[in-house]
Amino acid sequence: MHMKIWIFAKKEKQKTYENKRFLAEAEKNGIEMKLVTPEDFEILEPRDSNQTILYRHKPVALPDFVIPRMGSGTTYFGLAVLRQLEQLGVFLLNHAQGIESSKDKLEATQILASNNIPLPKTMLAKSTIRTSLIKKEFKFPIVVKPVSGSEGRGIMLCENIAQLQDVLELIQKSSDGKQNIILQEFVSDSSGKDIRVFVIGGRAIGAMLRTGKKGSFKANFSAGGTVAPFPLSSEIEWLAVESAKALKLEIAGVDILIDKGSYKVCEVNSSPYFKGFEAATGKNIPQEIFQFAQVRLG
Ligand SMILES: Nc1ncnc2c1ncn2[C@@H]1O[C@H](COP(=O)(O)OP(=O)(O)O)[C@@H](O)[C@H]1O
Ligand SMILES: [Mg+2]
Repeated sequence: MHMKIWIFAKKEKQKTYENKRFLAEAEKNGIEMKLVTPEDFEILEPRDSNQTILYRHKPVALPDFVIPRMGSGTTYFGLAVLRQLEQLGVFLLNHAQGIESSKDKLEATQILASNNIPLPKTMLAKSTIRTSLIKKEFKFPIVVKPVSGSEGRGIMLCENIAQLQDVLELIQKSSDGKQNIILQEFVSDSSGKDIRVFVIGGRAIGAMLRTGKKGSFKANFSAGGTVAPFPLSSEIEWLAVESAKALKLEIAGVDILIDKGSYKVCEVNSSPYFKGFEAATGKNIPQEIFQFAQVRLG
């Protein structure tokens, strides 16, 4: 494969399992790969010079592909650099727009809902919201989430209205009431487990069942959970592929909750980790991505 690929990662997240796997597989396939960080770029406009993007203050030969791996940690600056590369003809896996809308759990919910994807009941709320309204709309326990995040961080379960009130007060106190939060129906059947489907290029390449660490309702592998292979039924496959498509993501990790024999989409990740997925399914994710990139390149 004659390709030049850049992996975009934050400075402090360059040595992850995923990046090491990308580098190792690239070497095996004769792909020229470099890890870069958005902060090392400058954007220069207008386009009458041919130096509209600089890397470490110098003009740079652009790659064929960029694989952004910043996920929900993608900054304003990172998105701007990605958009610039996209406009200069570099192929992005994923596109800036998909990364931006999936990073915002509420925007993603709006897009998925408008595409008729089944979802847990969700409310955008301020920490000053009246608890009487919440009582009217939701049954307890209730899930409270930050609008953006990953690895289950900051997500909690409130058993009753008094607990929720305490949490809302804490958020109110620590953010001056500016923090937006998501309140969500707790899909109790799925407590401590969910299904993670990996989508590449519009195709579900496999699924795994994730089980959270003991005592937690959150199934995240990165937070200490375990993984096992899970069969891809047509329903799960359809949900994952449609969710990725709705969010304009060519690579996606789709979290699916189990609800009395049917399913609800929990969230869609634009740069899913794959240590657990490779272990559970035996799939080679970098290889799958490179193959799709090559097809794309034509
Ligand atoms: N509404 C819900 N009902 C049941 N479990 C949930 C719900 N929302 C999240 N979870 C659990 O918490 C985990 C983390 O939530 P998620 O929305 O995927 O955030 P993150 O981006 O931090 O992974 C999920 O994988 C799932 O196990
Ligand atoms: Mg998740």
